[in-house]
Amino acid sequence: MEYTQENPLPLPPGGAFGEVASTIHTVFDWRYALERKNLMNLYEKGKALAWNATDIDWSIPVDVEALAAQRIRSGLGVVMNGVMQPPAPLNDQELMTFQLHTNAFMLSQFLHGEQGALVATARIVQSAPWEEAKFYAANQVADEARHVEVYHRYLTEKLGVSYPCVASLEQLLNRIMADPRWDITFLGMQIMVEGLALAAFGVQRMQMADEPLIQDILTRVMADESRHVAFGVLALERLYREEMSPADLREREDFVIEATEQLRDRLLITPVFERLGLDPELWTPWSRNTPFMRGFRQMMFAKIVPNLKRLGLLTPRVRAAYEAMDLLRFEHGKDSVEEAEAPPPAELVEFLMQFLQGQSAGAPPAAAV
Ligand SMILES: [Fe+2]
Ligand SMILES: [Fe+2]
Repeated sequence: MEYTQENPLPLPPGGAFGEVASTIHTVFDWRYALERKNLMNLYEKGKALAWNATDIDWSIPVDVEALAAQRIRSGLGVVMNGVMQPPAPLNDQELMTFQLHTNAFMLSQFLHGEQGALVATARIVQSAPWEEAKFYAANQVADEARHVEVYHRYLTEKLGVSYPCVASLEQLLNRIMADPRWDITFLGMQIMVEGLALAAFGVQRMQMADEPLIQDILTRVMADESRHVAFGVLALERLYREEMSPADLREREDFVIEATEQLRDRLLITPVFERLGLDPELWTPWSRNTPFMRGFRQMMFAKIVPNLKRLGLLTPRVRAAYEAMDLLRFEHGKDSVEEAEAPPPAELVEFLMQFLQGQSAGAPPAAAV
């Protein structure tokens, strides 16, 4: 897809290129057994359902501030300033700017996560021991390149506002890529980062229901992502449930707990406060603690928890950590093999619908401890 690059992404403090050193093992599978039928089915599906960035109608105009103005007329200010009680009330113009930047921040992190998925999946082609996994990952590499392409164009051409990779996400991506163990690439990227992305895309699609271009993009990307998460689950479940030693499994538990904390922080919008001149010392603690935002961040784990359970990784240690973060309420949800889509949890849908319709009050999603 050709387009003129305007409003380029701001660079992170580390500069234009991020390098991660690691030594990995390249594995050839000379058997070509192709016996893992579930992976082969997913591979066939991936090829059949591929789309192109040029299929999207890029002529659709996008004006997030105008959409925000419409929401303000429906009572957004009452909800934002009344129900969420920020450190200082925001006037209409500030609310419009805040919506534009929050949206741009979330989409920018989607973009950076997609680049992470692109490089991680390329590594899976190289290091996964089974030919079936290499096939599927090869198909996914093409998906991820397309995702980077469409989010980049949307951010730079349509929004004109974007953010560099937030430190917590960059640290997690670096950590995943620095680890030589092939299953950690899967666990970190396919289960944790993509599991969170799938939930976040679902919420974004609901929040931006009045913006047709992002609807089209998110619907296409989510259809791909649900396959990617299912790939991670199918590739790892036998390994963790049947083949791994308790000592090795314990290292995976540690990884899951730390990655969860980093992903939770990735959702904090401190860079938005900084850019808009809102004192982060006041606003970050507010966004960390206000029930709506806390509930919102928890919902992002709605798909990760059942997937970890299916993998056999919701062990007593992980359970204890998740209990403390109030994430265990998602353990009875459907995993990504049982249910490809990731509908946002009902309680969030209910609250957001009130939010979008400008009806104030209503109980926010249950607060974290
Ligand atoms: Fe992706
Ligand atoms: Fe993906």
